[in-house]
Amino acid sequence: MATFSRSASALRSSAIRDLMSLASQPDIISFAGGMPANELFPVEEVEELFRGLSDREKRSAFQYGPTQGLPSLLESLAERLRRKGLQMEGNRILITTGSQQALNLLARAFVDPGDRVLTERPCFIGAIAAFRAAGAEVRSIPLDAEGIDIETLEKALGEGPKPKFLYVTPYFHNPAGILYGERRKRELIDTLRGSGIPLIEDDAYGDLFFHPEDRDRLIPMQALPHDGVEICYTGSFSKILGPGLRLGWLLAPEAIYGKCELIKQSSDACSPSFTQVLADAAIRSGMMEGYVERVQSEYRDRARAMTDALRRHLPDYVEWSEPRGGFYIWLTLPEGADAARVLEKAIEAGTVFVTGSTFDPEGVRRNTMRLSYCNNTPEEIERGIPLIAEAIRECCG
Ligand SMILES: Cc1ncc(COP(=O)(O)O)c(C=O)c1O
Repeated sequence: MATFSRSASALRSSAIRDLMSLASQPDIISFAGGMPANELFPVEEVEELFRGLSDREKRSAFQYGPTQGLPSLLESLAERLRRKGLQMEGNRILITTGSQQALNLLARAFVDPGDRVLTERPCFIGAIAAFRAAGAEVRSIPLDAEGIDIETLEKALGEGPKPKFLYVTPYFHNPAGILYGERRKRELIDTLRGSGIPLIEDDAYGDLFFHPEDRDRLIPMQALPHDGVEICYTGSFSKILGPGLRLGWLLAPEAIYGKCELIKQSSDACSPSFTQVLADAAIRSGMMEGYVERVQSEYRDRARAMTDALRRHLPDYVEWSEPRGGFYIWLTLPEGADAARVLEKAIEAGTVFVTGSTFDPEGVRRNTMRLSYCNNTPEEIERGIPLIAEAIRECCG
């Protein structure tokens, strides 16, 4: 019998992955996944983009490419990031195989088994998995409506071994849905200044805003003055073109970039050239910006359908807040309630969501749940939310 490594033996399938098989059954209404809607993918536009490429470009799409990414995409992406105000000087972009790979590379660059890393609570499950796979001990800091709790963060920095980094998702958080306030971002930078603890700023959803007046709040911390804090900024094409491209990026200070590039070399040599060629063409032609505007408006409608339905059907004791972008709404049940029981009832009734404990690195908080509206039509939302509300009533009264 083969003997697996300690790190492979410690790996567990996530509750989300297990639920996804259930969610794909035809008659279940799933609010569980964080996947963009199939019917919104820009199939014809991408076909047209490919047909419009030169023969040389089409051939390069089938070829291996440089580890750091295809030069043309590095250039067009850099221009796009510059427009967001991101600072390029002293930093470099690495194209990664999804931004999930960027998190894995950073974990491998910084973490030795037993090292402590800090995250938000709740936290994106893929990040927890990536950090744990590198042997990290994950300590989480609670979020409120404005962002990470600075007081608890200061306390965590002042006790125990020095954390290797802090990971945050300030823009339409997965799973909490929140958008950080401007003041909180500045306080966070001030708190880390001079600590020698790098900040990983995950911006997978920032382009999916519903209210143009939020633009200032969406300015990344990497784009704000942050002397004395090393910021590794990650982003993704998954929500603005499609996760099937498996393309993301890391913008990091030179030295951190260098380590990550070396680790990537031994991991997959390069990200898919095929989709890099397409992503580059999508940026340069302006197609991507047009597509992003279309999906912003579609997701805004879906979010509104869900908040309207929640308002009408949920008992008053359930707390939740209006999403300003992204894919998710976070529900808090009364203290002592068990969202796992609600999930059982909801599944019996024909609908599914993800329990909040899945996103709790310490795994102890049981009274929260994540609903996503991205992959449902308003009609499905209208049918599914009363079933969720009924399941909550059955369990919590
Ligand atoms: C917050 C966050 N970061 C990163 C990712 C990884 O995305 P990808 O690897 O598709 O770029 C996701 C995926 O859902 C996410 O929600």
